[in-house]
Amino acid sequence: MRNRRAALTAIAGAASLALTLTACGQSGSGGSKEKAGDVKGATIGIAMPTKSSERWIADGANVVKDLKAKGYKTKLVYGNDDPETQVSQIENLITQGVKGLIIAAIDNKSLNSVLKEAKAANIPVISYDRLILGTPDVDYYASFDNEKVGTLQGTYLVHKLGLDSGKNGPFNIELFAGSNDDNNTRYFFGGAMKVLQPYIDQKKLVVQSGQTALNQVTTLRWDGATAQKRMEDILTSKYQSAKVDAVLSPYDGISIGILAALKSDGYGTASKPLPVITGQDAELASVKSIIAGQQTQTVYKDIRKLAQVATTMVDDALHGKKPQVNDTKTYDNGKKVVPAFLLQPVSVDKSNYEDVLVKGGYYTDAQLK
Ligand code: GAL
Repeated sequence: MRNRRAALTAIAGAASLALTLTACGQSGSGGSKEKAGDVKGATIGIAMPTKSSERWIADGANVVKDLKAKGYKTKLVYGNDDPETQVSQIENLITQGVKGLIIAAIDNKSLNSVLKEAKAANIPVISYDRLILGTPDVDYYASFDNEKVGTLQGTYLVHKLGLDSGKNGPFNIELFAGSNDDNNTRYFFGGAMKVLQPYIDQKKLVVQSGQTALNQVTTLRWDGATAQKRMEDILTSKYQSAKVDAVLSPYDGISIGILAALKSDGYGTASKPLPVITGQDAELASVKSIIAGQQTQTVYKDIRKLAQVATTMVDDALHGKKPQVNDTKTYDNGKKVVPAFLLQPVSVDKSNYEDVLVKGGYYTDAQLK
């Protein structure tokens, strides 16, 4: 399976390279004016945020694989979730002469001056998964429909509690959001709250902690331990007699932390069942947790496709060809609306993980055992 996929990717890569070679000479906005010959065998720099989450490890590997299939060399760095480290890593990549950059930012606002250097060196910059803010020097954005991620989480909670089929609750819910320096956070939370807010207004959903504003519910660097601590504090102060029925969690690593807090508070028994709890990324530990009946849902984003989109963008830009985008309105970074290609997220729970994740070749059954 894996070999077949690698072979298909290689064929697709060769076909796309052939296409871009034919297109060489046409120049498009955001692309450098270099000729194909000049970029053949060039090195692309890839800056990823952290190795503490398996998705970013897979993202790095997928991007490297796709770029190699397109004939590039690669330099892949991980910023250890530290914005300053990431800035100096990107500076080094520019000094080392990379011809293109694919960046998943740690702090979306910290890259302005280093990207000025990239622009001066005529290096196209692809913002990967997370939008880089406050600079004109980002050319394209490869991501998912981030608001829809939140909509899928909110809709799932409403459906599982039965609020969309006549139940009125009131149900107790607690809300968690991602890192406040990640632009995706407000899209995820905004998408979820569009669905949840009307039920909160009607008092069918009650947030016992009273923490409903984004700045009260963020989780710096998406850290599971930080979320666990916040959940523990909420359980101690607000749920001595009340019971949590649902938790909006934006990301699997956070869901695992919240579950740890709930379990040490005695949740997970017949008399005190775990609440409905969402997630994102379909990370292995969370899919296993879903199968075991603990985490309830996750939002799957096929990062193999994301890597293809980002690497095709950089390849096109380097050949003076305008990359394909499907959104030119949503992602205003404060300096420009960054042309984006957005992929579709998919809600996954116990009922469809086999179809989506196993049949889709993302995990094997053996991995999920
Ligand atoms: C977000 C990303 C999510 C999740 C999170 C924590 O930017 O879109 O899929 O991975 O970071 O790593």
